[in-house]
Amino acid sequence: MNDKPDLIQADRDQAATPVHLLNKDLFEDWAKRLSGGQRAALAAQKFDGSGYQVGIVPDGDGWFAVGGVANPDDLSSWCLAKLAEVLPAGTYRLESGDPGPAVHGWQTGQYSFTRYKSENDLVGPRILLSKQVKAIDQALAEARAVNFVCDLVNTPAEDMGPAALEDVAAGLAKQYRAELTVTKGDALEREFPMVHAVGRAAARSHAPRMIELVWGDEKAPRLAIVGKGVCFDSGGLDVKSSAGMLLMKKDMGGAAHALALAELVMSTHLPVRLHLLVPAVENAISGNAFRPGDVLSSRKGLTVEIGNTDAEGRLVLGDALTRASEENPAFIIDFATLTGAARVALGPDYPALMTRRDETAKELIDAGATCDDPPWRMPLPEAYVEWLKSDIADTNNAHGNAFAGASVAGLFLDKFVGEGIDWAHFDTFAWRPVAKPGRPKGGAAYGLRAAFHMVQARFGKKRHQ
Ligand code: BES
Ligand code: ZN
Ligand code: ZN
Repeated sequence: MNDKPDLIQADRDQAATPVHLLNKDLFEDWAKRLSGGQRAALAAQKFDGSGYQVGIVPDGDGWFAVGGVANPDDLSSWCLAKLAEVLPAGTYRLESGDPGPAVHGWQTGQYSFTRYKSENDLVGPRILLSKQVKAIDQALAEARAVNFVCDLVNTPAEDMGPAALEDVAAGLAKQYRAELTVTKGDALEREFPMVHAVGRAAARSHAPRMIELVWGDEKAPRLAIVGKGVCFDSGGLDVKSSAGMLLMKKDMGGAAHALALAELVMSTHLPVRLHLLVPAVENAISGNAFRPGDVLSSRKGLTVEIGNTDAEGRLVLGDALTRASEENPAFIIDFATLTGAARVALGPDYPALMTRRDETAKELIDAGATCDDPPWRMPLPEAYVEWLKSDIADTNNAHGNAFAGASVAGLFLDKFVGEGIDWAHFDTFAWRPVAKPGRPKGGAAYGLRAAFHMVQARFGKKRHQ
């Protein structure tokens, strides 16, 4: 059970500290109604209404807060995040009206990862009141989902191995009465040969597995959500450099996104038949590791020559996409920290989106625009498929040049998606190198809310006109 209070609560005229939102243009005029002492207090805090500034203004026996935003009448997800990070614990109400989308950053701005801290200097909760009572549940669910991704990604590989990912999925299955199937050992080798091959070098305690969760009305449209669960990526025998390996606890970031999206689908009772698939492995090094030059069999039957053991994510996803396709879903969406090339092209903030269907790309991009979570589309160019040719097998897992790495990885995945199935692939970074208001440094969700808004718009109950 969660004993923390909700950070967004219904405004029922309870006592709350007022917050005035201003920008530089409005500030001077607004400040005319303050007393000399109040103006001096703001001047001492160097408050002039610039974005993300926070000021405290004494008022009789109490005080109120001011926050700088770009436009008080048009708030984004992040406009209130700085206020939520720095104000004292308490309950707050915006003087200018309702927070709208800014309820999101108000919550995520208060996230911190404290699991391994003996002591923490956390300030108590800052609660924001909202009159948009109907929107509160969704806002709480979305921020919880984002924080869930952060927690999973921030947890070191030793404590977030394949078994721990299974525990997380089992917890969700119990909470939402979903069916959980976990395939390991000999059955994994038979049914998901590439997942087994990538994960077989890991210690027994981190043994590879395929985690599947099924939920919802059997007659509802089928939605498959797939996440790359590489709990640590050493690179395998094509070992990464120490700098390249340092952050690789985050290589299960795709699985974290998938689990969080699945929870959003279940907690909001989206009318779909959900199929969540997480191939969970550690790409480790030992005497029985798969090797460069090996040829793997796959669930689909295609043989795959290993050009690089560090291109392991596409292997485990290949088997998962094959399994998802067998149920002929209406839509498959996958999340993966798949390539360094996606990060080179777009940086951390824009997850690379690949799909064959223009309408699906538009739906995801439009959905992202409404919640400040923008995916950026990259192509799946037919002309580059030949780069994956193998001399001795049906395909290679890596191409021999440095071009278009994110797209070529997408093209490899495409080979395992059933023909004609609507599919979208997110190559997400899952990590924020430098904090921004509402977006702390460390594990991060990119594309999660875009995907959720998209599946809600596509599969949710349509309102009557
Ligand atoms: N997990 C990495 C991708 C990655 C690296 C994501 C750094 C974010 C930051 C993936 O398994 C990988 O190593 N990909 C290789 C593929 C290459 C060997 C074809 C890459 O991107 O270099
Ligand atoms: Zn790798
Ligand atoms: Zn990887």
